[in-house]
Amino acid sequence: MSAPVNDFIATEARLGAHNYKPLDVVLSRGEGVFVWDTNGNRYLDCLSAYSAVNQGHCHPKIMAAMVEQAGKLTLTSRAFHNDQLAHFYEEIAALTGSHKVLPMNSGAEAVESAIKSVRKWGYEVKGVPNGQAEIIVCAENFHGRTLGIVGFSTDPAARDHFGPFAPGFTIIPFGDIRALEAAITPRTVAFLVEPIQGEAGVIIPPAGYFAEVRQLCTAHNVMLILDEIQTGLGRTGKLLAEQHDGIEADVTLLGKALSGGFYPVSAVLSNSDVLGTLKPGQHGSTFGGNPLACAVARAALRVLVEEGMIENAAVQGARFLEGLRSIRANTIREVRGRGLMLAIELHPEAGAARRYCEVLQARGILAKDTHDHTIRIAPPLVITPEQVDWALEQIAATVVQDFS
Ligand SMILES: Cc1ncc(COP(=O)(O)O)c(C=O)c1O
Repeated sequence: MSAPVNDFIATEARLGAHNYKPLDVVLSRGEGVFVWDTNGNRYLDCLSAYSAVNQGHCHPKIMAAMVEQAGKLTLTSRAFHNDQLAHFYEEIAALTGSHKVLPMNSGAEAVESAIKSVRKWGYEVKGVPNGQAEIIVCAENFHGRTLGIVGFSTDPAARDHFGPFAPGFTIIPFGDIRALEAAITPRTVAFLVEPIQGEAGVIIPPAGYFAEVRQLCTAHNVMLILDEIQTGLGRTGKLLAEQHDGIEADVTLLGKALSGGFYPVSAVLSNSDVLGTLKPGQHGSTFGGNPLACAVARAALRVLVEEGMIENAAVQGARFLEGLRSIRANTIREVRGRGLMLAIELHPEAGAARRYCEVLQARGILAKDTHDHTIRIAPPLVITPEQVDWALEQIAATVVQDFS
């Protein structure tokens, strides 16, 4: 028999660090776009574990691959080869057009690995004096929670009282091409940026921004690192968000949906010499590239393509966005999105977005507030048109309320 919901929540509160403030729902099962709580209530998941569950919860083919591999071989460390890694490299390289792959685990590790690699490239290939490499990043960025990364965050909650931080980062406004041009120096090795700023509230840069970014980076021999950990793998209606802008990054970061939510798998993909600078012993991870992770990631990539999830994200995303735009409510300031990466920004006077998420929960939708006034909508990419329409009805009924 499962414990009452309040016991789970109270025990978490008593024994766990309070670094999250979840909605009062305790989930115990998931399938496709749905999750169920311990009381058997069903919800449409409109967060998808921050886009890690693009393929839907407990996708049977990914699960089968995981179970099969778990019974054969899970971890060898990279001290020995395993019979899954080469296949993973081949398949992800073929899908993304990358030349080199560095497998890691969490998204933050992929970001850290990219930072290390571009610095090394800067010293050994570009000729930047040792210890002087600069990396340009954007205000309101979110690249993870490690010390290196939060050091260049502009979110006080993410960085306050965690310092001292590593130097070598220049912060510019997102979407401002002149600011990028002005920030580049002969010591700049990379520009690290999200194609769409996810945690900041689904912020889409001006049209043409990334084409100009690409040109500037190429002109100044600066590596363009696109953090596609949230935007990648179909979320925006393309395999990679960079495809909307017709560009190619020098370094692409993937994580989250690379495992369909089964296991932490991330990767640094490189089209340039960047990963080539890493020599044995200079970087690594006990779990990175393990056979279980590779088998899971291979299945996660396969179902994404074979089951048409990327195309579905484009079609259902357009339907969802149009539906959101047609909702008439004084509480809504703006709706925006690309593919199934959507956001409703409320007027500050409408009250905290969290209250709206609580009402959505009561109506059978789990969604997440961000930055007080924004509700993110990012369901699994397997959502059907009927489910989109049902979600729109619930959202419309929720946002007409005013919690100010
Ligand atoms: C764009 C982006 N980069 C990096 C990360 C960090 O990934 P992880 O939580 O797996 O370390 C996230 C997580 O939300 C993200 O959205």
